[in-house]
Amino acid sequence: MTSSSAANSGRSPADVDLSVAIGALRFRNPILAASGTFGYGLEFAHLVDLNRLGGLVTKGLSREPIEGAPAPRLCETPSGMLNAVGLQNVGVRAFVEQKLPALRKFDVPVLVNVFGYCQEDYIEVIRVLEDTEGLVGYELNISCPNVKKGGLQFGNDPIGAAEVTRVARKAAVKRPLWVKLSPLIADIGLMARALEAEGADALTVANTYPAMAVDHRTRRSRLGNLTGGLSGPAIKPITLRLVWEASKAVKIPVVGLGGIETASDVLDYILMGATAVQVGTASFTDPRASERLQAKVREALFDSNLFNISELRGKFHAEIS
Ligand SMILES: Cc1cc2nc3c(=O)[nH]c(=O)nc-3n(C[C@H](O)[C@H](O)[C@H](O)COP(=O)(O)O)c2cc1C
Repeated sequence: MTSSSAANSGRSPADVDLSVAIGALRFRNPILAASGTFGYGLEFAHLVDLNRLGGLVTKGLSREPIEGAPAPRLCETPSGMLNAVGLQNVGVRAFVEQKLPALRKFDVPVLVNVFGYCQEDYIEVIRVLEDTEGLVGYELNISCPNVKKGGLQFGNDPIGAAEVTRVARKAAVKRPLWVKLSPLIADIGLMARALEAEGADALTVANTYPAMAVDHRTRRSRLGNLTGGLSGPAIKPITLRLVWEASKAVKIPVVGLGGIETASDVLDYILMGATAVQVGTASFTDPRASERLQAKVREALFDSNLFNISELRGKFHAEIS
């Protein structure tokens, strides 16, 4: 028996409270499945007990269906993965008609990831979703090219990001609005404060990193789309710092994600100020990754003599030694 478990005698990991609140939303545990890596949830229902997940964020939905990028769309890299799916999705109306009725039967909080190429696209997707039941909130993906600004990503431009958050906030009357940041920002604190001021209820930090993988023999890209987004353990140290900077800058909750595979990864993000986390690439190797992590996080907290995950949040010691 370890000294910590001796101190906990009479109690077990089952007594550890993993529940968290993000604004008005309550989650039974802080581990959500990340957008684009868990389909619309339904595709995983035969492998994963959706009713045990902290929550799930759907694949990004647009105003009209999108066929996506040419193959190959995925490519393994050291400690990570590149993807160039090209935001393929069925479109918001088909989601509401064909996917949501089945998804509603599960007891899992569902957020819809929303994207567009101009402000009107975002407004229209939210408008369609506002008329439906069975969702707890919206997550805006602002790592998208803004066609009205010559393809500059909303998410790399604090003014564009603030504007799209403002119009989405007005459209999202019924539900909380989370904004998912691009990791390519000069000053994430500035961006985080701007989005908080526009009414974002939480910030999701962060999306993938623009990257490439090529083959010098064929002289071609390993992705059909030429460039892609890097995810997986390779990005965790970079995103961890962003989560720290963002959570110091704002009062609204921060949801951290990037390279989470283990209970320590989850708790590192919580330590740096995240209230909850999302699991993306890890679901490709183990579709049950987010479900399994709960038990491991409970055990890790129990071993540290902590019985409520919130006791660890933001408790990083920042003194310089
Ligand atoms: C195949 C794939 C598709 C993705 N699609 C979306 C998407 O539609 N919207 C979005 O906001 N993020 C999308 N992402 C980004 C992930 O949600 C997540 O931010 C990123 O992968 C970092 O987390 P990870 O290292 O745990 O995968 C996608 C990622 C992957 C790998």
